[in-house]
Amino acid sequence: MTDHILIERWGAVQIIRMNRPDKKNALTRAMYAKMSAALSEGDADPTARVHVFLGVPGAFSSGNDLADFLVIATGGEGGNEVWDFLMALAKAEKPMVSGVDGIAVGIGTTLNLHCDLTFATPRTLFRTPFVDLGLVPEAGSSLLAPQVLGRQGAFALLGLGEGFSAERAKAAGLIYDMVAEDALEGAVLAAAAEIAAKPPQALKIARDLMREPREELVARIKLESEHFRERLKSDEARAALTAFMTRKKG
Ligand code: COA
Repeated sequence: MTDHILIERWGAVQIIRMNRPDKKNALTRAMYAKMSAALSEGDADPTARVHVFLGVPGAFSSGNDLADFLVIATGGEGGNEVWDFLMALAKAEKPMVSGVDGIAVGIGTTLNLHCDLTFATPRTLFRTPFVDLGLVPEAGSSLLAPQVLGRQGAFALLGLGEGFSAERAKAAGLIYDMVAEDALEGAVLAAAAEIAAKPPQALKIARDLMREPREELVARIKLESEHFRERLKSDEARAALTAFMTRKKG
């Protein structure tokens, strides 16, 4: 089986690479599980100082695998992998840096709201079509996006499903910097190395101070998840998911 999540180490930097290019890095349950394990193992390993999320050229992630959503929408079982990953993101103890190139849909956008620094390329488009799919925002984005973008920017992203180019995302504070495609991974790794060189205890306290209280975020993710699970079984979601999975490509 091809490994859809690759875990690499570069000094004190743990790199979590989404690697399912034929599906634009749509995330399966197994991929979530592997990313959760990497976050908790990296957090527990004193030689790891920072987590990095990367995708493949042109695709950070196209979001949750819609085939998995359709299984739940049509009465099948879902599993806890997504929940576990969202908890791992919300509770991660070490800084997280992401490098986004190209497609960044759904969790491919909202994951970055948990990161400490996000770099994106000019061809990146952040998009969360939750409502168009009959769904609701997830991963704490209904709490985090208004904090970052203001109420109206968050509504444009999460309610209207408007795309945010890297340029717009930078102006709005959604990302730290925009860099050329061929400079992306270098910029991400340089930032990660800078973080890794900081006094770890002081950095941890500083980061925790910026993130407390985490209970509020966890409670929001729980509330969103309850709605999300209900919405997956709605006629609106079933119709939208079926339309995508059975679409004819011209
Ligand atoms: N779940 C499952 N499969 C997906 C997927 C997803 N989220 N996103 C893309 N894929 C699959 C496509 O079905 C296609 O598979 P196929 O080659 O077997 O037909 C393959 O990945 C390539 O996608 P394609 O649509 O041909 O690429 P594109 O560059 O034209 O468009 C997207 C890319 C991401 C814009 C488009 O695929 C899309 O809108 N995907 C759904 C995104 C989404 O709604 N995510 C969930 C958010 S909650």
